Amino acid sequence: MSDAGFHPIRMLKRLRVRLRPTPNQLDLKSVNVGFVDRLKREMPHDQAMELAIGGGFEWIGPIEAALLRHYGLPADGHLVDVGCGSGRLAKPLSADHEGTYLGLDLVPDLLAHARRICNRPDWRFEVVRHIGIPEADGRADMVCFFSVLTHLLHEQSYWYLEEARRVLKPGGLIVFSFLEFSEPSHFEIFLGTVEQAKARIANPLNVFIDRAAIPIWAKSLGLEVVDIRAGGDVIVPEGNLGQAVCVLKKPA
Ligand SMILES: C[S@@+](CC[C@H](N)C(=O)[O-])C[C@H]1O[C@@H](n2cnc3c(N)ncnc32)[C@H](O)[C@@H]1O
Repeated sequence: MSDAGFHPIRMLKRLRVRLRPTPNQLDLKSVNVGFVDRLKREMPHDQAMELAIGGGFEWIGPIEAALLRHYGLPADGHLVDVGCGSGRLAKPLSADHEGTYLGLDLVPDLLAHARRICNRPDWRFEVVRHIGIPEADGRADMVCFFSVLTHLLHEQSYWYLEEARRVLKPGGLIVFSFLEFSEPSHFEIFLGTVEQAKARIANPLNVFIDRAAIPIWAKSLGLEVVDIRAGGDVIVPEGNLGQAVCVLKKPA
């Protein structure tokens, strides 16, 4: 017998404890919708939509779009943008991406804003209840998570990566951004989140991923690690994202 830990679900099932999700601060839907509602009460609607996803609409979106092209998003490819928010990436992409697009988010207001500013009736914007990609198996060329796994528990991020793998074509890529403790500007975010925890403010979490975990997750998921870059690395001429970037591949 090992003391490395116990499997909570198996143990509760063995004890015949009824498994029911408990509503709390980890309820992604209510925390994210509540966060956007608070901003909507404090400022004009469009400003709230842009601030809700962190602002920097004019410069971060083009960097995200350039990163996807840099890593090989085909001009006519199918992109799934998980946690697309109010369209910071979709807006610049909508100008010249000939392929299809599926944007997913928990917050209907953000999706409505994204749909409006992109004006691409051929693109889908859909609400997610918790975690999940409403797409058929093997359809996507690329799945991206910009500043999304930064707000999820590791278990939820891993679950999303499983979903991403399912919907990717063989050879398709996952691009995600993440926060790491070794980066001083990220550590500042951590200290801010400590203050938030002390004040018991129910904002979305800020969660860091240890680089060393990525190959372990990738192996378990049957994915290949293509690239891992620090937040300060300039990968595309449009500038650097600030967050670290990881690219994983579904084997062909
Ligand atoms: C910091 S914003 C980033 C938005 C966008 N990816 C970008 O870079 O402009 C994070 C977004 O992820 C969304 N989000 C958080 N958890 C999610 C989940 N489980 N499923 C889908 N979207 C989620 C939030 O509602 C929010 O719009």
